[in-house]
Amino acid sequence: MSKKKIAVLTSGGDAPGMNAAVRAVVRSAIAKGMDVYGVYRGYNGLLNGDVEQMNLRSVSDIIGNGGTMLYTARSEEFKTLEGQKKAAKHCEELGISGVVVIGGDGSFAGARALTNAGINCIGVPGTIDNDIACSEYTIGFDTAMNTAIQMIDRIRDTAQSHDRCSIVEVMGRRCGDIALQVGIACGATAILVPEVGFNIETDVVERILTTKKTGKQHFIVIVAEGVGGVVDLAKYVERRLGIETRATILGHVQRGGSPTLRDRVVASLMGHKAVDLLAEGKGNRVVAMKNGQIVDFDITEALEMPRVFNEDLYNIAKTISI
Ligand code: ADP
Ligand code: F6P
Repeated sequence: MSKKKIAVLTSGGDAPGMNAAVRAVVRSAIAKGMDVYGVYRGYNGLLNGDVEQMNLRSVSDIIGNGGTMLYTARSEEFKTLEGQKKAAKHCEELGISGVVVIGGDGSFAGARALTNAGINCIGVPGTIDNDIACSEYTIGFDTAMNTAIQMIDRIRDTAQSHDRCSIVEVMGRRCGDIALQVGIACGATAILVPEVGFNIETDVVERILTTKKTGKQHFIVIVAEGVGGVVDLAKYVERRLGIETRATILGHVQRGGSPTLRDRVVASLMGHKAVDLLAEGKGNRVVAMKNGQIVDFDITEALEMPRVFNEDLYNIAKTISI
């Protein structure tokens, strides 16, 4: 009987830990007697035939590297039915019957489309934003937050020296999880996230004033990217309160760097689980973390789940960061 062949790709925004997931997929597949292929630059690699067979040594010494050795991309062509059929045809020509897709929910929608075109796909959540509703954790989240707090600790040093307010934007287009956790970890006087409505006067200005009255002379405000407007907010706070204020957008620094232990371990477990599912002949599934365990969900069910923001944590942050 011919060997089962599977492939692995990374798609959408990169995230620290993606390499650890690729490594786990390659080694778990080889351990199960499968042939495994690396697909370069996301779905583009399936469309262009940019695919290479991997061996145990192809993924040596990558577990601690940021970025993704398979590169990543966004592909407009793959969003079309023709593109999906072309990608499926290329898989069939190579004898590839399953693909592990490491990425965010856009990449999962692509994985569902490719499964419908005849190639079993398993999604693995890889995005720093932690915005995959079915999973309490996404690969890259921990590293991004740790990078952010290191940067903000430095910002605090200078804010403190100058008795200033610093307003810092962290990543998270539709999701305030990075802002919330980082805000707690950095003792931010105010945290603004896209999930919770806010009023600049009561949620920023008054909080700074209350804190100032108790003796504090420097302030950190964390704003999620999905809220934005940090430059204007800094001008407003300075004008309104007469406190010198600076805005910093942390940006892509949060996407790079060597993955933390948590990202390396979770990525390894999720990559391994994805191969188990393909080995069982399953497709259209997403690997996820639930109550700390690695589980799987139907892709459509996963994509339709509403994301739940942790308002309790948000309220605790408001109570203790004052
Ligand atoms: P992420 O996976 O990080 O959410 P994107 O939303 O950019 O990133 O999606 C990555 C890629 O997945 C897209 O460039 C596209 O090729 C593919 N994709 C996204 N949405 C769909 C869709 N609805 N159908 C098919 N492919 C999709
Ligand atoms: O998905 C993570 C994320 O970092 C978002 O927070 C951000 O909006 C987006 O990716 C930016 O992606 P890029 O610069 O690659 O387009």
